[in-house]
Amino acid sequence: MIRNAKEKDLNEIYEISNEQLGFNYIKKDSIKHLINNNFAIILIFEENKEILGFSLFEIIDNDRLKLELKTLYKKLDKKIKNSNNFGFLNIVAVKEKSKGKGIGSLLTLETIDKVKQQNIKYTFSLAWQNKTKINIGNILLRSGFKQLQKIENYYYEDSIAKKYSCPTCGEPPCKCSAIVYIYEEKTKL
Ligand SMILES: CC(C)(COP(=O)(O)OP(=O)(O)OC[C@H]1O[C@@H](n2cnc3c(N)ncnc32)[C@H](O)[C@@H]1OP(=O)(O)O)[C@@H](O)C(=O)NCCC(=O)NCCS
Repeated sequence: MIRNAKEKDLNEIYEISNEQLGFNYIKKDSIKHLINNNFAIILIFEENKEILGFSLFEIIDNDRLKLELKTLYKKLDKKIKNSNNFGFLNIVAVKEKSKGKGIGSLLTLETIDKVKQQNIKYTFSLAWQNKTKINIGNILLRSGFKQLQKIENYYYEDSIAKKYSCPTCGEPPCKCSAIVYIYEEKTKL
């Protein structure tokens, strides 16, 4: 079952994030803030009262988009940059033991459903590329996203500043790349 996260889910979400994205990639306080924020939607996949995965979607402005897309922002089409707000599928993470059962895909599709209910034309997402694969890349493509560009060493500085350890690289700096994807809601002006 997929539902909106509540404050009582905080610890379980934090644990999945630590396991899948690296320790303290997202801090407990930030998750709490996001659960209670109108500009964010955290969805959780729950089975037998256990949270097996979650997604974090945010509505962001141009300044935040600039931060997230780094060097790629400049290359975006003017018609995209002229929008006032954007969707940002920031995280999808599924517990190790529950991967490969369609949970990540379901969370992504449910998020797209939420996007359709908002006044948002463009939604971005980043797929983390480690040594072996582009995590979530295929899921994003199947959900209607298009691949834009790869950004090398995407997490390098952030991992040092925030002191999070990457599941692939270990202690900072993280040398993984990110692939940027965009979803365009065709029915919105
Ligand atoms: C990326 C991630 C969220 C995917 O979650 P998931 O629940 O395993 O995703 P799914 O099960 O929907 O899809 C994973 C694969 O299993 C396959 N699959 C989906 N349903 C399936 C089923 N019922 N039976 C068998 N395989 C299935 C999919 O085709 C997919 O393969 P592909 O990616 O090669 O196309 C998860 O691996 C994860 O948490 N990764 C670490 C965090 C991360 O990088 N997140 C993305 C950036 S924030």
